[in-house]
Amino acid sequence: MNANDTSKLGPDALARAFTNRDFQWGSATSAAQIEGAARSDGKGESIWDRFCRETGRINDGSNIDIACDHYHRYKDDVALMKWLGLDAYRFSIAWPRVQPEGSGAWNEAGFDFYDRLIDELLAAGIQPHVTLYHWDLPATLHERFNGWASPEVVPLFAAYAAEVARRFGSRLASISTLNEPWCVATLGYETAQFAPGQTSRATAAQVSHHLMMAHGAAILAMRPLTKTPLGVVLNHTPAFPAQATEADRRAARIDDGLNVRWYMDPIFRGQYPADVIEHLGEDAPTVTAQDLALIQQPLDFLGVNFYTRSFISTRLPAVPAPGKQGFTDMGWEIYPKALTQHLVRITREYAPPPIYITENGMANADQIIDGRVPDEERITYLRSHLQALARAIELGADVRGYFYWSLLDNFEWNSGYTKRFGLFHVDYASQDRLAKDSAHWYRELIAAHKAHHMLEKV
Ligand code: FCB
Repeated sequence: MNANDTSKLGPDALARAFTNRDFQWGSATSAAQIEGAARSDGKGESIWDRFCRETGRINDGSNIDIACDHYHRYKDDVALMKWLGLDAYRFSIAWPRVQPEGSGAWNEAGFDFYDRLIDELLAAGIQPHVTLYHWDLPATLHERFNGWASPEVVPLFAAYAAEVARRFGSRLASISTLNEPWCVATLGYETAQFAPGQTSRATAAQVSHHLMMAHGAAILAMRPLTKTPLGVVLNHTPAFPAQATEADRRAARIDDGLNVRWYMDPIFRGQYPADVIEHLGEDAPTVTAQDLALIQQPLDFLGVNFYTRSFISTRLPAVPAPGKQGFTDMGWEIYPKALTQHLVRITREYAPPPIYITENGMANADQIIDGRVPDEERITYLRSHLQALARAIELGADVRGYFYWSLLDNFEWNSGYTKRFGLFHVDYASQDRLAKDSAHWYRELIAAHKAHHMLEKV
């Protein structure tokens, strides 16, 4: 099967390509992007609450005070998931909602919200997959010691992880420690696109190491408390040299080192990649043998978020990505083949535990026309990426589930509400949700997969 020549594969035929009857169909969100209720029921402030108040940080000047108001509408939103037929839902816990200062007292009202959400999901037959850190660091920790730049966050994060595992572990289908540490470190502390908006490569490198240590310490702390599968979610954007020159190849290799190997190597091999350490030079973090031992905890699964590839050009002006299958509304090149290649590659190079595609999706300039959202582009994106995924599985990648990003249109970080990723369109003024054509398509695919495997059993 080739992602290009079967571009019109219907949901039924595509569903058959997923021969594992237990393959999980899901969708993903994160707390800061949908919950709202930024100050309700004792929630503490996060670095994103603050970042939104700084002039010029968010493209449309918006904030996350209300977002999708999911905090109050979670029952309706779970009903949407049920209508889709989802097996699984990935969401995150806002650390400052359950521990306002990031240390010390727990906020029972905050835990109650997640308790209700988990109950609602289980009652709907949907497996809850939790992420502990999807970027909303308690602002107090930022004030006290510049957040992740300090190793003091490591034991605090582990204590928070343990508390979640102790309270909810038995009802969760999985717990991931971090979402996309590359984004936290690089976009938060080096390029200033994300909170807390700093611009130091040395700090970012140190942050990335503390994140890795926090991941390891959290796994270690949770292990004795729960039998639920534990893992981490990494964003992988495979790098391709634009031209077959030595300079482009070398630059692509470093890009791959910074984005993929910098996180995969310590987790699965117990060391940071030597070429990246050399590349960082004086900015490389201080690392001890104990740190590396802490990071290399056995994991039950690996979450991979895949959206696009990086097209690396050292020429001036840079050679642009060809974009034969187009670009999304984020300007990201649509290149599904990289998903197949990358999954096969990491399977070969790291022998990872079972993989979940914990995010994949596209922003599209969706519009409501005659009561519908005809997002043909998103259906094409979904179809081509699922074909690429089926192909990777055929080639030996052990992928157990797929989570579309995102269930709802939501707050897309520094892009504010200008980018729509959802299966459901959200009218932010009325908070009305409307199933896009892609939601209908995904629903059909999930139903076809179930029907096909039920028939098989007869
Ligand atoms: C990922 C983030 C997620 C969302 C998508 C579009 O990097 O994990 O929160 O913003 O990108």
